[in-house]
Amino acid sequence: MNVKELKEIIGDKKGVELLQTVTSLFPKEVIFSTSFGIEDQIITEWIGKNNLDIQLFTLDTGRLFKETYSLWSRTLERYPLQIKAYSPDNSLLEDFISKKGPNSFYESVENRKECCRIRKIEPLQRAISGKKVWITGIRSDQSVNRHDMDFIEYDEVNQIIKIHPLFDWTFEAVKKYCKEHYIPYNVLHDKGFPSIGCQPCTRAIQAGEDFRAGRWWWEDQSKKECGLHAVKS
Ligand code: ADX
Ligand code: SF4
Repeated sequence: MNVKELKEIIGDKKGVELLQTVTSLFPKEVIFSTSFGIEDQIITEWIGKNNLDIQLFTLDTGRLFKETYSLWSRTLERYPLQIKAYSPDNSLLEDFISKKGPNSFYESVENRKECCRIRKIEPLQRAISGKKVWITGIRSDQSVNRHDMDFIEYDEVNQIIKIHPLFDWTFEAVKKYCKEHYIPYNVLHDKGFPSIGCQPCTRAIQAGEDFRAGRWWWEDQSKKECGLHAVKS
């Protein structure tokens, strides 16, 4: 089934209903990546409360905030779910750190991309291998690049269908939903961190700054994607 056909079947279904439709079409072949961001927590709530046939996974880069690890534990306490953890390949990481040191990402875009490749991309490829549909917490207004995406798309690089169930939600709507449903979220979101990645590569933003201004803040705007969500040029 291609994206166009799937889009027709989905029609105007949203949220849990959308996910149920997808899992009935692709049993055991749907996965969801969570970074424990506030958007991801809503999708986790839908999966956990409705016992959906979707495998959750997270890319544990080893450099996440302590607040993110705490939320990971709280999430496991709240839902009867397994969250599969993918860690970087040991020998790739050991070689890289031995050669370049622990914080080489600040020195060049090349080093930063290599770190993201080892800590995120290679583990991601293992996580999605053999699956048909990849669910994410992406929203269109998170970045300029993401405006041009769709709630459902085919990822040519990873050869998988991607679905972003919260694609047209605003950040305010996400926060409101979490509060109304008592969904646990990262305490950093209330401390100026709308977008949370690895600790050394994420800072709080000031009023008026762009949503992703706190991610890889020392780099050019155009380079600020880690490669998890490859965008067609
Ligand atoms: S990133 O490409 O800049 O790192 P972002 O933080 O906006 O991505 O998150 C967008 C979506 O990517 C999340 O909703 C989640 O589905 C996925 N994602 C990002 N980081 C991770 C991670 N460490 N583990 C699993 N999924 C992740
Ligand atoms: Fe490495 Fe920073 Fe990328 Fe995390 S976000 S994988 S620490 S470069």
